[in-house]
Amino acid sequence: MVTANPTGRTSAKWKTFDPDVLPLWVAEMDYPLAPVIARALHDAIDRSDTGYRWVEGLPKALAGFAHRRMGWELDPGRVIVLGDVLAAMSESMYRLTPAGSSIVITPPVYPPFFSTVRRVIERPLVEVPLLDGRELDLGGLARAFARPDVSAFLMSSPHNPTGTIHSRATLEQVARLAREHGVVVIADEVWAPLPLDGRDVTPYLSLGEDLTGPDVSLIAASKAFNLAGLKCAQIVGGSAQTASTLREGIPVEVTYAASQFGVIASIAAYADGDEWLDGTLAVISDNARLLADLLATHLPAVSYTPPQASYLAWLDCRALGLGDEPARIFRERGRVALNEGAEFGEQGRGFVRLNLATTPDVIEEAVVRMASVVHASSC
Ligand SMILES: Cc1ncc(COP(=O)(O)O)c(C=O)c1O
Repeated sequence: MVTANPTGRTSAKWKTFDPDVLPLWVAEMDYPLAPVIARALHDAIDRSDTGYRWVEGLPKALAGFAHRRMGWELDPGRVIVLGDVLAAMSESMYRLTPAGSSIVITPPVYPPFFSTVRRVIERPLVEVPLLDGRELDLGGLARAFARPDVSAFLMSSPHNPTGTIHSRATLEQVARLAREHGVVVIADEVWAPLPLDGRDVTPYLSLGEDLTGPDVSLIAASKAFNLAGLKCAQIVGGSAQTASTLREGIPVEVTYAASQFGVIASIAAYADGDEWLDGTLAVISDNARLLADLLATHLPAVSYTPPQASYLAWLDCRALGLGDEPARIFRERGRVALNEGAEFGEQGRGFVRLNLATTPDVIEEAVVRMASVVHASSC
């Protein structure tokens, strides 16, 4: 029997539900912090380095990481540091697009894409659902971008929740369409450091300034190194002009929401975290395959395409007969917490999202518990 919360953590993942609920929902990792990050943070505590953030060193560390891991020649002079990716998202939309204009998203997609547009910057949304539930619909995007009210495309790349890596050709098409119609692409690339099984991710801005000058990439070490609680994210401008528009537009108070610990941890992660990240990616790739085997054995009616990147498994549970809220039923009856697919948009109804950044025994226990719910409900 797997023990819930063996390390006594107190973050949202562990505290939101009762202690007997196996938490495979929010995108936090169960792994110990990378030793290089732990050391940097311990050192910071030892010198009482808990003042306001000082970001010097971070743009260069990010540029080194982008070059080594993604072949992306990123100009450190175009990096702006903020508290988190959601702040980076709302600031980018707010500063780069006209008031009242509409923002395109491609559901099923990370739920805060909906709420940030509707409730934080209070703009209309235009939805262009993924094709076959996985790929960007270029025809649909072309039609949406042609609308006079549309000013920006908020893209998840790689895509949360499906783990789809958008191909270079697809991204080039997106950029061409954006230029043709004067639309700004805001590429949320927080999952880009996590390609599985040796795949490559094409960073959107690596397509070059001619294609992507007006656009931005949003990136952070938060998902790849489990640093969400430390609050640090980066916006990269597609051109010096875009970066300076943002730098001038974003109030300095907003940028002070980045924490000193977040900056210190992110520099350590980007500069020295490769070995830990490689090991972690291997574990996640194995977990993604293990989940396929376990589902085939215990829940063959669940349809699952392993992610190409990320530690998110997107499971189609519609054939299980559990209705529109399978995650609620798995949690209430099976004591497994997953994300409810419907929160990712209408297209996610009947799906659940499962977090693979855990140990194989937890994944096995989760699937066994889910299967027991299904078998009990069909008796
Ligand atoms: C696509 C996407 N964007 C943004 C975030 C939030 O990242 P952060 O906590 O660094 O703001 C997440 C978190 O899971 C995410 O999946």
